Amino acid sequence: MMGEKPRWRSGAAKGNLGAMAVSWRLVWAVMLSGSLLCYVMVLMGSASCRSNVGFEGSDARNFANSGKLSTNGADGVDLALWSGDVRDLSTAWNRLCYGSKPPQRINIALFVKKWPTGGTPGGLERHAMTLHRVLADRGHVVHVFTMRQPGATTSDEDEEAQEEQRHPNMHLHFVKPNAGGGFDHSRAWEKFSEINATHPFDIVHSESVALPHWRAREIEKLAASWHGIAFEVIHSDIVQDLIRKPGEPRSQELSQSMGGRLARVADEVRFFPSYKHHVATSDYVGDVLRTIYELPLQKVHIILNGVNEQEFRPNPFAGAAFRAKYGVPENASLVLGAAGRLVRDKGHPLLFEAFSEIRKKHKDVYLLVAGSGPWGDRYEELAPNAKTLGPLTPLQLADFYNAVDIFVNPTLRSQGLDHTLLEAMQCGKPLLATHFSSIVWSVITDPTFGYTFSPNVESLVAALEQVVTDGKEKLWEKGQTCLAYASKMFTAKKMASAYERLFLCMTNETHCMYPLPIDEQECRSRKHGRRALL
Ligand SMILES: *[C@@H]1O[C@H](CO)[C@@H](O)[C@H](O)[C@H]1NC(C)=O
Ligand SMILES: *[C@@H]1O[C@H](CO)[C@@H](O)[C@H](O)[C@H]1NC(C)=O
Ligand SMILES: *[C@@H]1O[C@H](CO)[C@@H](O)[C@H](O)[C@H]1NC(C)=O
Repeated sequence: MMGEKPRWRSGAAKGNLGAMAVSWRLVWAVMLSGSLLCYVMVLMGSASCRSNVGFEGSDARNFANSGKLSTNGADGVDLALWSGDVRDLSTAWNRLCYGSKPPQRINIALFVKKWPTGGTPGGLERHAMTLHRVLADRGHVVHVFTMRQPGATTSDEDEEAQEEQRHPNMHLHFVKPNAGGGFDHSRAWEKFSEINATHPFDIVHSESVALPHWRAREIEKLAASWHGIAFEVIHSDIVQDLIRKPGEPRSQELSQSMGGRLARVADEVRFFPSYKHHVATSDYVGDVLRTIYELPLQKVHIILNGVNEQEFRPNPFAGAAFRAKYGVPENASLVLGAAGRLVRDKGHPLLFEAFSEIRKKHKDVYLLVAGSGPWGDRYEELAPNAKTLGPLTPLQLADFYNAVDIFVNPTLRSQGLDHTLLEAMQCGKPLLATHFSSIVWSVITDPTFGYTFSPNVESLVAALEQVVTDGKEKLWEKGQTCLAYASKMFTAKKMASAYERLFLCMTNETHCMYPLPIDEQECRSRKHGRRALL
């Protein structure tokens, strides 16, 4: 929050709909009074009050169409009473509630450049794996055309068999790397075609450009998920350049990459239309795809990432044990945590400097840093207040989130959407993260979820000071708000059911209407009940 009063976006700040500025408070007032009215009508024995709930009117449409509205904490995410064609939804599909029994089984072909077996997977690979396993467990058939991550110790056949044992509807097809060590999409395409000849696929899903655009062009029922586009990388480059110290020359690497970046954006704008449907993994990218990339509005769908809600969940006991194990004093006033690769572009130079300042003034504030990389050793200079933990397994990572009072992610890369933020939220922790559009439009959408700062040391110090001033109890409250929000928005189940709805809609237009009968049964009656209790 840049150290001053929080400058959370108002509807007018970034919205492209003037009417949105009417303010979400009004929308909520209308909705709440609608549901109260509904409640009264139910009490009085009225058969149906659906049309009175306020979502059918124009306020409702504005709300549905405004991914960038502030959401009034965890409760504001709810669009369960919205109805219409899902392709018209310009906010995240995660906001809807979907029934769990799909009307039809979908045969899905997934192209992804790497499959994470062993080693630390990147965000894109984890997304691919989490999403498709849940889809397979929901009854769909998924064939994955991919390549092993280098350094695998098991054989391809063993890995394929193991996956099928755990998820009977998942079928992995590994191809050998091409001469350059990259994903051999031609070979993957051959395997795909062999299977398609006897078991035609309903949907082809490409994680980023795993399937090249000139192949994708021919496929009608294809969706590509974008985890970072060239336009965002321009922003990252600017941020990287700005953290140079006075007199420090621009690195040669950066100078070179900056030169080529605009051309790369223009190239993307030209070839993206070859992909028929686009999934943006943040509200911000959805906006850029519709405006700068000039893609048809109805072909751009925002589905935010989700993380495994069984792995990442609140567990205070595990958190306390974790603290004890790593020697955090019991009288610590505050424990901050950061996780990920400890490299420059993840913002570690900033956090290192800012935390050096903070610990001078606040001797009992601690910082736990999970992960490995060049900055790991530097943090040891700030002992005993800072401690580097090395790389953690997902299970240890869950305990780590539970051990901290607030999760800090100072990333300087504005592309994509970091899973760590979502994991920390699922564990009930508030966030301190960079004030990037992808983060403030989709994750820290409200000050009740945490804090943001501009990517410079001064701003980070100011935000950290605010965190210290607010203290443990306020952080705990924010953490509870985060948990409530994440449980609705960022579960693997939510992500998968949103993708499932997209794929259903792509195979049969009847399924594009929301709600479907299955949603009515599972979501609406419950929501009515919940609203009525408000
Ligand atoms: C897959 O098979 C179906 C049915 O034969 C065919 O219509 C479709 O074009 C094939 N898909 C691709 C991408 O070749
Ligand atoms: C916290 O406890 C340690 C001993 O475990 C003690 O040395 C230190 O002074 C205490 N700090 C505060 C702020 O009470
Ligand atoms: C589309 O789905 C509806 C409802 O499930 C079904 O009645 C219809 O036959 C389907 N259409 C096609 C072309 O499969």
